[in-house]
Amino acid sequence: MTSAAPGVSDPPAFLILKVGGGLFSDKSRDHDIDHDAVAGYARQVADLAAAAPGRLVMVSGGGSYGHGAVRDLDPDDPWAALPLTGANAELRWIWTTALHRAGARAFPVQLAAAAVLRHGEAAVDTDSLRRLLATGALPVLTGDCLPHPDGSLRVVGSDRVPSALLGLSAGPARVAMLTDVDGVLDDGRTIPWIDPRSADSARASLRAAPDWDTTGAMSGKLDAALDCARRGAECLILRGDPDRPDLRHLLRPVPQWPPGLRYTRIAQGGPETARPVPAAV
Ligand SMILES: Nc1ncnc2c1ncn2[C@@H]1O[C@H](COP(=O)(O)OP(=O)(O)OP(=O)(O)O)[C@@H](O)[C@H]1O
Ligand SMILES: [Mg+2]
Repeated sequence: MTSAAPGVSDPPAFLILKVGGGLFSDKSRDHDIDHDAVAGYARQVADLAAAAPGRLVMVSGGGSYGHGAVRDLDPDDPWAALPLTGANAELRWIWTTALHRAGARAFPVQLAAAAVLRHGEAAVDTDSLRRLLATGALPVLTGDCLPHPDGSLRVVGSDRVPSALLGLSAGPARVAMLTDVDGVLDDGRTIPWIDPRSADSARASLRAAPDWDTTGAMSGKLDAALDCARRGAECLILRGDPDRPDLRHLLRPVPQWPPGLRYTRIAQGGPETARPVPAAV
């Protein structure tokens, strides 16, 4: 199912929140994790889950766990990516325990157990996840490797997971991707809106990813967001900060976001931006 395009003044019916690996882990190393950062984001995500029970899914970037597992794959071994499943299971468990400590009923979900590859992309069988959401639980996913009909295992990076989950939304879906920059930057300036029908100039602003990055850095993220936006979702790329008091603006229409917050919005429609909300009387 493809969700309906959200109007900019509509609150999202469903939020898919991705926390980028660079926010809690040094991707150039193996099994590196910043537990304080994880605790900070877990507090924010638990708060969101309490505000929107059954309407939130969290996706974690692979960080040094995921990237470390697929950095040097043997091209002659069709199952070389298998260790990614183990590494990301550890990572999901780290998030699950941190989210439990923060008060959320988080439940780790392995992508390969919930999805199949269809035309090279993960496609989720929504029934089991919908039932999980209906209990008020917070599903926690990561990238994974999925079996291909040719007998090999194919890597599906975390940036590609949100598009596999769009079918869970009964209404306008929002995909928010927290990362270590304010959005897609063009010469240092944050691009406020990218039209999914004409993204060439935004693409031209992207720098090459470092060698240790296995999924193309912002380029992979932007391509994934464009794919979601073409399917009707509203995507936002914005900076994460584990010390922020909360992320509740992610459940509000963008025009009601705190003024001054920078982000790149990738969505059909127009270049809507945050504007001050009239003070309550
Ligand atoms: N034009 C650009 N605008 C913004 N970031 C860019 C641009 N070109 C390259 N980048 C790089 O992309 C990085 C963000 O992508 P990256 O994949 O590292 O994020 P992440 O949040 O760690 O997510 P993930 O865990 O999915 O990898 C930025 O830190 C920046 O170095
Ligand atoms: Mg990346």
